[in-house]
Amino acid sequence: DSDQQLIDFKNSSHSSSKFHPTTLPITHNSIKVSIKATLPEEPDVVPLIVACAKKEFGDYQCNNAMSLWSKTKGKGTNFKGPQPIGQAIMQNLPTSDMIESCSIAGPGFVNVKLSKQWMAKRIQKMLKDGIDTWAPKLSVKRAIVDFSSPNIAKEMHVGHLRSTIIGDTLARMLEYCKVEVLRRNHVGDWGTQFGMLIEFLFEKFPSGEVNDQAIGDLEVFYKASKQRFDSDSDFKERAQQAVVSLQGGEEKYRKAWAQICEISRKGYEKVYQRLGVHLEEKGESFYNPYIPGTLDLLREKGLIEESEGAQVIFIEGKKIPLIVVKRDGGFNYASTDLAAMWYRLNVEKAEWIIYVTDVGQREHFEMFFTAAKRAGWLPIDESKYPKTSHVGFGLVLGDDGKRFRTRSTEVVKLVDLLDEAKTRCKAAIKEQEEARIKRGIVVDWTDEERDRTAEEVGYGAVKYADLKNNRLTNYTFNFDQMLNDKGNTAVYLLYAHARICSIIRKSGKHIEDLKKEGELILEKDEERKLGLHLLQFAEVVEEACTNLLPNVLCEYLYDLSEKFTGFYSECQVVGSAEETSRLLLCEATAVVMRKCFHLLGITPVYKI
Ligand code: ARG
Repeated sequence: DSDQQLIDFKNSSHSSSKFHPTTLPITHNSIKVSIKATLPEEPDVVPLIVACAKKEFGDYQCNNAMSLWSKTKGKGTNFKGPQPIGQAIMQNLPTSDMIESCSIAGPGFVNVKLSKQWMAKRIQKMLKDGIDTWAPKLSVKRAIVDFSSPNIAKEMHVGHLRSTIIGDTLARMLEYCKVEVLRRNHVGDWGTQFGMLIEFLFEKFPSGEVNDQAIGDLEVFYKASKQRFDSDSDFKERAQQAVVSLQGGEEKYRKAWAQICEISRKGYEKVYQRLGVHLEEKGESFYNPYIPGTLDLLREKGLIEESEGAQVIFIEGKKIPLIVVKRDGGFNYASTDLAAMWYRLNVEKAEWIIYVTDVGQREHFEMFFTAAKRAGWLPIDESKYPKTSHVGFGLVLGDDGKRFRTRSTEVVKLVDLLDEAKTRCKAAIKEQEEARIKRGIVVDWTDEERDRTAEEVGYGAVKYADLKNNRLTNYTFNFDQMLNDKGNTAVYLLYAHARICSIIRKSGKHIEDLKKEGELILEKDEERKLGLHLLQFAEVVEEACTNLLPNVLCEYLYDLSEKFTGFYSECQVVGSAEETSRLLLCEATAVVMRKCFHLLGITPVYKI
């Protein structure tokens, strides 16, 4: 059946579709069957299907004839050239109501045109059964997305914001594909910086009466203690001793550590709450007890060597080895990550572990992934599971082209940033209202509605501005750009969605009734184009998941709203003879848009 065709295509197209949103070869399975019938002696021919360059020829073009000709030439087949092979592929296509017509062009290109009745039926079925029935099925059951992961007491900077936004989207997309996702906040809560912080805490609060008001800004606290650490050698010594006491599990030190972590946590929670992001914290400290055992396993495999007093794993092709036990006997970032990987593979039984950090950490991930392969924890063949992926991203830049900062502080306070997005949106909404009132239009917004919309649009804009770029590139943070209501922005897209909702509302028709009784017909060219794009949704999600590229979904969404505009400017909806059908097409567009928003972590707006 047609769903099966979609799935089969997905499994075969991964490598070829890399970094390119593909058009949906709905025709994949039919063509595969046909090639098999045409040349039964050729095993495992992968259908080469692209979108037709000239729309009048069809929707999809099969390009296999040429290469099949050069492969089979002189091997005793009955074909005299690529064109007859193309002819045969066309004739051998299994009969189905999916295909309207086929034709041959040039040296055996097979053009296939989908049936608009078939397309319309599929869309109508989705409207009835819900868009979850369009979710692609992936071959993974459980995945871990390790994202956000700020470092306690140090700043949570825009890099962590990027990680939070990208990681959340990836988790949402995988969840949509019915993958069980463990969302992990791998917070840095176990570094040597804690010795210094704890000592400083003891100095400032000798009685041990600490609360967050007392400490106030943890970043300031961090800086002050660092200054003390650098300038006072007695203090420094005590701080180093404090690390030992903490790691030895001494009650008093443990308690102070927990207090500091808790204050930090409250700060992050504010950001997560605003962004609507859920994560489960399993910080570095959690894996600490597993490090010695993990290193023993690696030692047994002969992976760990002595080098300049440290214990290291040499990685082929890398000059510097991966240090797993420091010269002073302490563990580090890499030892923690190895233990965490062991835990995730063996205790949590994850099949796919995805790490979202800035590209600067690529080397670290490459090295410990290689170590895990050498240990036999991961298959050498990267197309097999379990597998690990590092999702790297570029820098966030300010208008000056340098790392994004604000004037007052070195780093940007994330909460302030989100607040500003909201404030600006609220101002824009007010302005728009006043303009309407001047034109004599009744504005019936409640304060609460205004506030909520400003928040949804504002936060959505920050997320979308980040996600729409290929994550590997640096992007410039610019409020004016991201809050523009024209162009490829969340504001534009959210408004486009609200407009579709208002078309449906103003028709006075009950969309639920239409879904039951009405019929969708893709008659006009613009209707058909929009319909085809809607059908490509699942494919794009699959692509975005496979390559871990949220921008692929953003591009699709923007295209969708463009195709809708094309349709709406050509086809009258309300009051036309085709009203029912066109309202259904509006609804289908709105449903798919909403799903895109949802996957991008953006709350849709229904009214503007
Ligand atoms: N805390 C790290 C940082 O801020 C990110 C941790 C990423 N996850 C991991 N398993 N290494 O750079």
